[in-house]
Amino acid sequence: MREKLVDRFNRIHDYLRISVTDKCNLRCVYCMPEEGMEFEPDERLLSFGEIAEVVRVLAGMGVRKLRLTGGEPMLRKDLDRLVAMLSAIPGIEDIALTTNGIFFAPKAEKLKAAGLTRVNISLDSLRADRFALITRGGDIKKVLAAVDAALRVGLDPIKLNVVLMKGINDDEIEDFLAMTFDRKLNIRFIEYMPIGHDDEGWKTKYLSLNTVFERAASRGWEVEPASGITGNGPAENHRLKGAQGTFGLIHPVSDHFCETCNRLRLTADGNVKPCLYWSDEFNVRSRIGDDQAVRDLFFRALDIKPENHEMALALDSANQSHTPTVRRMSQIGG
Ligand code: 5AD
Ligand code: SF4
Repeated sequence: MREKLVDRFNRIHDYLRISVTDKCNLRCVYCMPEEGMEFEPDERLLSFGEIAEVVRVLAGMGVRKLRLTGGEPMLRKDLDRLVAMLSAIPGIEDIALTTNGIFFAPKAEKLKAAGLTRVNISLDSLRADRFALITRGGDIKKVLAAVDAALRVGLDPIKLNVVLMKGINDDEIEDFLAMTFDRKLNIRFIEYMPIGHDDEGWKTKYLSLNTVFERAASRGWEVEPASGITGNGPAENHRLKGAQGTFGLIHPVSDHFCETCNRLRLTADGNVKPCLYWSDEFNVRSRIGDDQAVRDLFFRALDIKPENHEMALALDSANQSHTPTVRRMSQIGG
């Protein structure tokens, strides 16, 4: 009988990203439009109990690592309760959170105690006014407090997500790199992805990540490869010589990492997405309670998981092999 989550290309899936809500308190320019977002009514979101049921079945099929995403996951009341439920499931070894950090600091202790192992915090600028523009209203002080709180309670590694955008924040690359000298942070520079929104903006703001090395070199900073950063995925990691922290480059567009993809995604309304980019998805909610039906659904999703995405062809949609998702990043959870 089929047990493990292996797809047609022999990729073993041990990682599930769970979007717990599609709502967000911010409106980052690369993620959501300023107005007119429509959200799922609360009753359409999977309950904590339903999420835990799905994870229990998947843990039996080899899933070891989870990431809670959104939207903004901390908008779900008592998120620490979900973390505790998930960390009690045999087989689950790692529970990470991706958050914009606004509500994180006061809850850091509780989340860590509940079993949270790691956190990624979005921080696209270190300048208060610019941060407010990019996030359309975010208060950077709260996010910096979140970073401090994460360091204080001992979450490790702490990753900062920086989406690089030409003409918007690329003049801060050196400032972000300099943060790693005396703080044990992992700065993740992420290529701007053309997902579900702002395709026109993407064409002008997309920046390839070689720029990061060029800027380090221009300061005379030596870069060495870094190992030993726990993660599930696609970052190549580096260190400025002598620095405590590290930085990583995530280039989903220019050099996709699909060959080693180990992840599945669960949307907030209970659909399994085998690939971030394409539209295919399968409804798992109606099967919760019947373990075999849940297993079969995940196998169906895996059986159509594509070999790769074609984001780099987004400039020319006629060349794509099938249909990109219409969901926004906030509905998929990155
Ligand atoms: N391109 C790249 N990264 C994105 N994110 C959201 N939208 C995009 C996009 N279009 C990432 C950001 C954020 C996380 C929640 O999702 O890194 O930190
Ligand atoms: Fe919210 Fe994150 Fe999207 Fe920004 S990137 S609008 S913080 S979900």
